[in-house]
Amino acid sequence: MYTQLEQRTMAEPPINIGTLRKKKQDREPIACLTAYDASYAALVDAAGTDLVLVGDSLGMVIQGHDTTVPVTVDDVVYHTRAVARGLRHAFLVADMPFMSYTNPGQALDNSVRLMQEGGAMMIKLESGGGQLEIVEHLAAHDIPVCAHLGLKPQSVHKLGGFRVQGREPDQAQELLEAGRQLQNAGADIVLLECVPNELGQAMTEALEVPVIGIGAGPHVDGQILVLYDVLGITMGRTPRFVQNFQQGHDSPLAALQAFVGAVKDGSYPAPEHCFS
Ligand code: KIV
Repeated sequence: MYTQLEQRTMAEPPINIGTLRKKKQDREPIACLTAYDASYAALVDAAGTDLVLVGDSLGMVIQGHDTTVPVTVDDVVYHTRAVARGLRHAFLVADMPFMSYTNPGQALDNSVRLMQEGGAMMIKLESGGGQLEIVEHLAAHDIPVCAHLGLKPQSVHKLGGFRVQGREPDQAQELLEAGRQLQNAGADIVLLECVPNELGQAMTEALEVPVIGIGAGPHVDGQILVLYDVLGITMGRTPRFVQNFQQGHDSPLAALQAFVGAVKDGSYPAPEHCFS
């Protein structure tokens, strides 16, 4: 983690929430990745990633669970603290795990832990209409919030699997309305997972805050992928939106630079990574 003193001598200042908003206004794609430890965080940062998420995907890719449900606040604090030590430039977001934000008071207490103990600059929660009061409460305490909409992996047992969301017109309208309400409640970023291109585009046009997509098509403000998917570490079947950038590159840093470059020049995601 950079210090105020180091920042004075940096050629390029670290990314902050204002930089991300300006990128949306300037239509400059925002490149985002997950990370879980200091060494990979340093590589992701060196590759030019704008935003790094300590996702609760750590439950699957680090801990070996089938879902993100078993992840605890202590787990996310531990990994966020490690990632923060590896970053110099990127904006650091940490995930609120399953059942760590069931009411405004609990959400505030756990957000404070991720920021004070972990060093996160923003927290992310899987949201919808039911989380408006929580987002308002966090925003009233100046906690920056990323609202995760679309496929919400913490709800996997309720959804009956990891599936594309918002294909039906009613469901698409509901998601769009939830995005507007969350923005009005104080969300600073919306993360949209696994929806048709058309909904990704409509959400991006409807909102003033940046919309970061994962499987949400090419018309969003930024793209995020799970680091281990980008590096081709994940074995077996991966979601349609995943591209293994390690192929054709001889080092992890070169693969990560290729991902950032492809997001910035619009070549990722390609049509084969998208849903209709
Ligand atoms: O937990 C995670 O890594 C995420 C990303 C897949 C966006 O939420």
